Amino acid sequence: MHSPGSTFLLLCVMFQAAAACSGGQCELGDRCSSSADCGNELYCYNCWVEFAGKRCVRETVSDPFKIVDTSLPFNKYAFLTTHNSFSIHGEPSHTGVPRITLYNQEDSVTDQLNNGVRALMLDVYDFRDEVWLCHSKGGKCFDFTAFEPAVDTMREIEAFLSSHPSAIVTLILEDYVGADHGLSKLFNSTGLTKYWFPVSSMPRRGQDWPRVRDMIERNHRLLVFTSDESKESTEGIAYQWNFMVENQYGDGGMSSRSCHSRSESLALGNRTRSLVLVNYFHTVPLGVTECAEHSLGLAGVLRACHAAAGNRWANFLAVDYYKRSDGGGVFEATDMLNGMLICGRDDVRACRRRTLKDALQGLLGKLGLMPGRRGTRRT
Ligand SMILES: *[C@@H]1O[C@H](CO)[C@@H](O)[C@H](O)[C@H]1NC(C)=O
Ligand SMILES: *[C@@H]1O[C@H](CO)[C@@H](O)[C@H](O)[C@H]1NC(C)=O
Repeated sequence: MHSPGSTFLLLCVMFQAAAACSGGQCELGDRCSSSADCGNELYCYNCWVEFAGKRCVRETVSDPFKIVDTSLPFNKYAFLTTHNSFSIHGEPSHTGVPRITLYNQEDSVTDQLNNGVRALMLDVYDFRDEVWLCHSKGGKCFDFTAFEPAVDTMREIEAFLSSHPSAIVTLILEDYVGADHGLSKLFNSTGLTKYWFPVSSMPRRGQDWPRVRDMIERNHRLLVFTSDESKESTEGIAYQWNFMVENQYGDGGMSSRSCHSRSESLALGNRTRSLVLVNYFHTVPLGVTECAEHSLGLAGVLRACHAAAGNRWANFLAVDYYKRSDGGGVFEATDMLNGMLICGRDDVRACRRRTLKDALQGLLGKLGLMPGRRGTRRT
């Protein structure tokens, strides 16, 4: 008979045997005990609905601007989008009142951006004589639904754009701000106006957007869309539905059997709007189902929406709890979208333009002459 102590020891030995890698050497899908075990761009996660124990899974999107180039129009790239990016689990109350609402994400906006998220869905409200981010109902923010003053998040975005001079960030605002020029004042006061993409340069009849290279050169690196139509003429903030089509959000958007537009949007197949956004999140985010959803049903929905949009792949993929998956998750899906958009292959990494240096590194690798960490390079 085993004593409890020896059973524990036995379990330890079994665990040791299972963990064949550590110290940043673990590759995608390998067992791990902490993220320090996993290689670059991976973290250690327990997707218990898919597998028992923790494994190294992806946490970053491949950057198509770096992997391929910036020569194409903006609407020929795909961008990972967080739904309710600010509704972050664990965010302390800023009103002194405990929050009663639903959560959609679990890391900071800065972390989201660092992991390759390039579009943020934010709900903006008038609250305490300022603009606040709230997860509320009926267009009104309460102490118990408030997250934080929007200036805090805008400053995070400004810091990211300033330290990443070739990144482009898109904000999609569910806009309940009624204060006179409230949003313009917010963008002015947080230094974001200098990155502003002017609404006058946005294509209105389904033409291509400017090339990414030119947007970067002109510092037109912040695109802002509002749900409030009046602000396009009063404040120069683009009315989302003049430029974008979207599928139904919530549970109605998660079926691979049908993809149809939400009520505010023109039909998905209407080519007078050159940007396509696919919503892929449940009406009620639970935090436990996302791992399975990101691992299994996502590619089918993207294909259904591609067909519904008149053979156009999504430019934006909007999700909750974006890091949860059994391996590739929304990162692999975004890499697929970029691959299809850029070179017609199902992974953007297959679109890389091969240079002489790449060819040489490949050759050295084959000959076993390339030292370096395992599992970090994908070519
Ligand atoms: C924002 O800044 C611009 C340029 O400095 C200025 O013209 C505009 O009036 C400002 N808007 C508001 C609402 O403060
Ligand atoms: C696209 O939308 C425009 C604006 O509502 C409309 O006039 C046009 O008929 C639509 N085109 C198609 C093909 O549905």
